[in-house]
Amino acid sequence: MRLTAEAAATATADSASSEDITRSVVTAAASSRDERLREVMPALIRHLHDFAREVRLQPGELFAASQFFTECGQISDHARHEFLLLSDTLGLTMVVDTESAAVAPGAFESSVLGPFYRAGAPEVPSGANLSRRGQLDGQPLHFSGRVLDLAGHPVSGAAVDIWGTDATGRYENVDPDQPDMNLRGRVSTGPDGTFDVWSVKPVSYPVPADGPAGRLLYQMDRHNMRPAHVHVIVSAPGYRTVVSELFTDDDPYLSSDAVFGVKSSLIVHYDQVFDESAAERAGVRSPFWSLTYEFLLTPGATTPVAFSAGPGPATA
Ligand SMILES: [Fe+2]
Repeated sequence: MRLTAEAAATATADSASSEDITRSVVTAAASSRDERLREVMPALIRHLHDFAREVRLQPGELFAASQFFTECGQISDHARHEFLLLSDTLGLTMVVDTESAAVAPGAFESSVLGPFYRAGAPEVPSGANLSRRGQLDGQPLHFSGRVLDLAGHPVSGAAVDIWGTDATGRYENVDPDQPDMNLRGRVSTGPDGTFDVWSVKPVSYPVPADGPAGRLLYQMDRHNMRPAHVHVIVSAPGYRTVVSELFTDDDPYLSSDAVFGVKSSLIVHYDQVFDESAAERAGVRSPFWSLTYEFLLTPGATTPVAFSAGPGPATA
């Protein structure tokens, strides 16, 4: 049926613009009974719609995005978290961490938790070795430090949760060749705020590239390497929990971390130590590496870690 000129003019006047649609959706989202949703969803909708307008998003591209997210879900399991990897590689994780975990000037800064953290790492005494396979895990490392308040007073009884990869760059929960909880442990500081453990020197490693997040990196002509780092969570009653990483200072990927986690205060130097008797006492080979770091905590409330990957099959 053909419209009359008058009817066509009326229809055009009544047609909603994309901005009208945005206003309708924002209005619909603003009536949620959940206070946080009332704040988050209208903003999310506005940004999504503005994004679609800005890039002139095409229906085929919207469908491709839908397929991409479907693949992210399909490749994920209890040990593989593709959406988190995507958040990491797009820098969203670091934006959220940095905005939500502000610390006092000079205090220990946050970085990404990463997808391989496991809660419940074994509590170990000072001086323990987190490596359960010796040489197979990598070059021996003596990691020591002090946990202090902003005035430099020791924080006794702070928990220092440490985890890392073996020399091949794999975490135990994605590597069937490693024992359960290998290279993970939680040590407490003594009355003088000190702790020390043995582990292995970190190496650079690739984030998984066999899924949609990795494919997207290559499509953007980006690499998928992370500079060598050891993961650390420091927590103590009366202080903000800090989830972070310490980065090796001579790593070639320091300025192009695939997940943008590097901050200058988190770059550390490892010394090589030639001390046969110290190595013998620790049951490791000489020479070994030594890392020491002072963790200054910001007063505040301790917070639980928001995520933990379980044990699982090799996927990385
Ligand atoms: Fe890592």
